[in-house]
Amino acid sequence: MSENKKQKQIILTGDRPTGRLHVGHYVGSLRRRVELQNSGNYDEIYIMIADAQALTDNAENPDKVRENVTQVALDYLSVGLDPAKSTLFIQSQIPELCELSFYYMNLVTVSRLQRNPTVKAEIQQRNFEASIPVGFFTYPISQTADITAFQATVVPVGEDQMPMLEQAKEIVHKFNTVYGETLTDPKIMLPENKYCMRLPGTDGKAKMSKSLGNCIYLSDTEEEVNKKIKTMFTDPLHLKVEDPGHLEGNTVFIYLEAFANDDHFAEFWPDYKNLDELKEHYTRGGLGDVKVKKFLGKVLQSELAPIRERRAQWEKDIDGVYEILKKGSEVAEAKAAETLAAVKKAMKIDYFG
Ligand code: TRP
Repeated sequence: MSENKKQKQIILTGDRPTGRLHVGHYVGSLRRRVELQNSGNYDEIYIMIADAQALTDNAENPDKVRENVTQVALDYLSVGLDPAKSTLFIQSQIPELCELSFYYMNLVTVSRLQRNPTVKAEIQQRNFEASIPVGFFTYPISQTADITAFQATVVPVGEDQMPMLEQAKEIVHKFNTVYGETLTDPKIMLPENKYCMRLPGTDGKAKMSKSLGNCIYLSDTEEEVNKKIKTMFTDPLHLKVEDPGHLEGNTVFIYLEAFANDDHFAEFWPDYKNLDELKEHYTRGGLGDVKVKKFLGKVLQSELAPIRERRAQWEKDIDGVYEILKKGSEVAEAKAAETLAAVKKAMKIDYFG
């Protein structure tokens, strides 16, 4: 980078297509991505459906991954990611990523990979202790290829991806030290508030997961959303309306922290100016959970209805969705090829000019 030329601002992020995206993905990442996309502050934005990474622990479920590529693409388009502003693409269609991964593997030790806390936790969750697929074990390296192939300066992701970014930065530093300044050092961008960082499931459990059946999906109908809110975990000590309510671990309030703004109060519940006033009444006592849940329902509905409508439109045009992914993958591949060429040159394996 020359002194007077401003460094390009480039975003790269993505999701594994192992299920439809839910409101946790929305407040943790998708909502912010759309804001960043529309801010005009970024020169290039790459949003990747990480199907190859999904296959590292779903090798025996190709149908599941394939089906969810479509679902995640629909989720992307319905939250407002715009192919005119963001390049939406499919990871497996960019072979340069595999090549980069192969060279980066030389710069990482097995013990370094074993220390990765996210991978450690995932190995436990999947009962992989005795038989970790090599591809799964090395996915932090392939994720570094994803990030560096696009020379990303900013990677907006959830907290659980922090170890991946640390790994990426280490590889970048190592590569640049050994072979000369070639790769861009990426910065992580975390969600704006702690409630968005890790939205709990509707049952109050720390993580939303398909197997626990505690997710509200972006593609849920209005009825499904209302039903899930009705049974949402609140405060087990708040038995009578007069009882003082507790906010700690109260899922309904955590969701309000993540979703509700002052305009929602003005529109749906003008008895209160903002969430602080509502919390004050709730903790004082005299406010029933049903009322708070009704409000949350209206807030969520107002956020999700436009998403649902856009989804319904795109669902009628799956060919159009794949056309977008195909074009996006072509653009993405051209960019990755530039980086790969620079990498090979730096590594002195560019034999034929
Ligand atoms: N690991 C991310 C997830 O679990 C997906 C992903 C793959 C990703 N490559 C990436 C995210 C690069 C950010 C940057 O959903």
